[in-house]
Order: sequence, then C-alpha cells, then structure tokens
Amino acid sequence: MDFKRTDFPEGFLFGAATAAYQIEGHGFGGAGPTHWDTFAATPGNVIRAEDGTLACDHYHRFAEDLDLLKNAGMDAYRFSTSWARVMPDGQTINPEGLDFYDRLVDAMLERGLKPFQTLYHWELPSALADKGGWTNRDTTHYFGDFTDTITDRIGDRVHAIATINEPWCVSFLSHFLGHHAPGLRDIRATARAMHHINLAHGIAMSRLRDKGMTNCGVVLNFDHTSPADTSPKAAEAANLQDAIINRWFIEAIAKGTYPQEVLDGFCDHMPDGWQDDMAQISQPIDWLGVNYYTRHQMAADPGAPWPAMKTVPGHLATTQMDWEIYPAGLHHFLTRMAQDYVGDLPLYVTENGMAWDDRVENGAVHDPERTQFVSDHLLAAKQAIADGANVQGFFYWSLLDNYEWAFGYEKRFGIVHVDFETLKRTPKASYHALKRAIAH
Ligand code: FCB
Repeated sequence: MDFKRTDFPEGFLFGAATAAYQIEGHGFGGAGPTHWDTFAATPGNVIRAEDGTLACDHYHRFAEDLDLLKNAGMDAYRFSTSWARVMPDGQTINPEGLDFYDRLVDAMLERGLKPFQTLYHWELPSALADKGGWTNRDTTHYFGDFTDTITDRIGDRVHAIATINEPWCVSFLSHFLGHHAPGLRDIRATARAMHHINLAHGIAMSRLRDKGMTNCGVVLNFDHTSPADTSPKAAEAANLQDAIINRWFIEAIAKGTYPQEVLDGFCDHMPDGWQDDMAQISQPIDWLGVNYYTRHQMAADPGAPWPAMKTVPGHLATTQMDWEIYPAGLHHFLTRMAQDYVGDLPLYVTENGMAWDDRVENGAVHDPERTQFVSDHLLAAKQAIADGANVQGFFYWSLLDNYEWAFGYEKRFGIVHVDFETLKRTPKASYHALKRAIAH
C-alpha cells in the first residue's frame, strides 16, 4: 500500500463491511423467507440460482470472522441486521434473531471494534413483498417498527447506525432495470419505490431520534458519470444518469427536493401527496456514507423511451465485475458531497473494493490488483480530505468473499478468501498489506 495510518487525521477509522444476507446463512436461527430467496429461485435471475441459505455460515463462525478484523488492526466493522431474521414475517419478533445480534455486537465490543450497523441491506421479508414491498407505502411504517425493535435490543451498544444501504439499488436497479429482487421492470413501481425508500429512511430517522439515538446516517451509492462523446445529447444523458443515481437521494435528504429531470420522467407515477413527505425525508443526519466502485460513460439512445440513454464501454482497466477502475471518482464524490450537500458533516467511505478471480495456491492468495486498488482509492480519499471533505473513515467491501447477489458466489470481493465447499477462510495478500499499512 502507498499509504500509512498516519497519513490520515487522528481518529480516522479503518474497517471492513459485510451485509447479513450475503454472509450469515439465512437458513439458520429462524430467519424468514425474503424476496431474495424467491428471486434466486426463479430461473435466469441469479448465477446457478444460488441463494443465501448457507452463505459463509457467519451465523456460527462470527467469532472467527471478528478475529480476522481484530487481527488486521481494524477499528470498526460495518455489518447489517437482517429484518427477516429479527421479524421473519416483517412484523412478528423472532427472539433467536435478536439474541444473535446481541451476541454479535458484544463480540465486536470485546475485540475493540466499533459496530457500524445498517438497518436495511436488502432482505425484505417475503410477507411484505407479497403486499407490494417498497411500492407499498405501508412497508415504510413496518420498517419503522423493525427499527424500534432492533434498536431496543442493541442500540445501547452500536457506535453508528445507517438506515438504508444504497436506496438506488433498492429502487431503480430492482424495479426499473430488474437486476435485483424483486426483479421488476416497471416505471410506476420504480417511482413509488424511489420515493418510499427515502420515506423509510425518514421514518427510521424519526424512530431513532425518538429513542435519543445519535450518530445516525444513511449509505448512498454513487457512480461517476460522464458523456461518452462531445455531443449535447451525450451530455444530456450523462446529466440524467447523474440525477437518477447520484442526486435523487442526497438531494431529497439534504434539501427536501427531487431533481426536476427525473420527476419529468416519472410524470404521473409518483404516489399522491409525495410533496408532504419531503420534510420527514430531509431531517438532519449525523453522517453520510459514500459507497463508490466505478464510473459509467453515457450516450443517448435515440428512439428509446425515457430515460433514452445507454452505457458506452470505456477504456480503463476493469475488475472481475467488468467495472472500470477510476479512483478519481471517489475524490469527486467526497468533495462534491461536502461542497454541494452536507458541508462539514462527517463522511465515511462505507464501501469500496473490487472483485477478482482469486485462487488459493500453496495456502496463499496473491492479489496485487486488489492491494493497488485499495491503495489508489485511499489516496483519493486522502486528497479529498486535503481538499476540504471531512472524511472520517474507510470500510473495504468486503471482509469475506460472499454472496454477490445476482452473481451468486462467483465474484470475489473479500480481503479474506472463502472456500464455499469447506467454508475455510484464507486471508489474501491484500489483507496482510492493509494490516501493515494501518498498524499503529
Ligand atoms: C454494493 C452492495 C454490496 C455489494 C457491493 C459489491 O452495491 O451494497 O452488498 O454487493 O455492491
């Protein structure tokens, strides 16, 4: 790595991130069925129709996994608490689920790791999916009840709480592009989900504040967009893509408005009275999480219906996901968030990482590409700090190779390799490199 801990401000947190459905093993502990189980069981959605039933069996092996974080010298762990584990039908409490998160948080504290909890990282209980999921406004209130329940149990010990992980993925990717559960391709469902997921964030914030919780925020994903050529049409396409992914959510949360060019596309599909929710959505947050992976170059797609745009392949080196590697984009979003939306509010890089076709050879995993990737992105974050962004931490995605959603277990993002036959964990060379860089 081309950086060391002391290159960052005092108190800067280094950590790694995971999410419940991707690692825990949803078959254990009385968790209920989720829309990811049914999406995966439907041919054509997920590679080899794989799901999260076993995943990394973190449910039983969490002590070993937390030891990996501790032994790397990490300060914090970003994890999520599964709604369907705590409330298998979305409403009824499963005591085993609460007990699990109780043990998990205690185990973090025993190891000196700061718990960064995410309330919703995508495993919507099937019973609520049956009622329309995020297209149904009622889901936002059920989410508020889940927020109350899990916070009553572990809120006294978590360091920070994020409401929603990546609302764009929850809504646009899942209801317009159909790539994630529930796999819809419907503009009306999309408009509703894009608003309701913001409302769910706002309702959860209110419930957290009612309980006196502090250090509450949200985690948004950002994708660097630029025109593929010099034509005005390409500039328009890039602007619209930027509005849909990068502005819709932060503008609602920080300013209480939506970008007009997206509202123009949604026309009459927004739920009635959405304007009345904007105050609830835009209440103050304590920090903002930035997830950043790649960039996209955009061109117009003439003749196609709104948003009438397409992605044009770029020329940069790519990861196993075919995502272009573009560290300058991280600097762009950190400084842009500070300048245009949140001022001096603490920012965390809550996800950044890369997938690679990693293999264990002679007991080791040689992944210099990942070491370079992390190093380049941390240097971009460092430059953003020098340029005025109040960045207070960085979480690598992910601690473990895990269930990469529609890509099943094929794409390996971990700094720790997982053999999905034996579940053996093998720290990769990048894990050791990170450990050396952040040693006190
Ligand atoms: C993000 C998700 C995370 C993981 C990474 C690669 O969109 O939050 O669960 O899938 O991408």
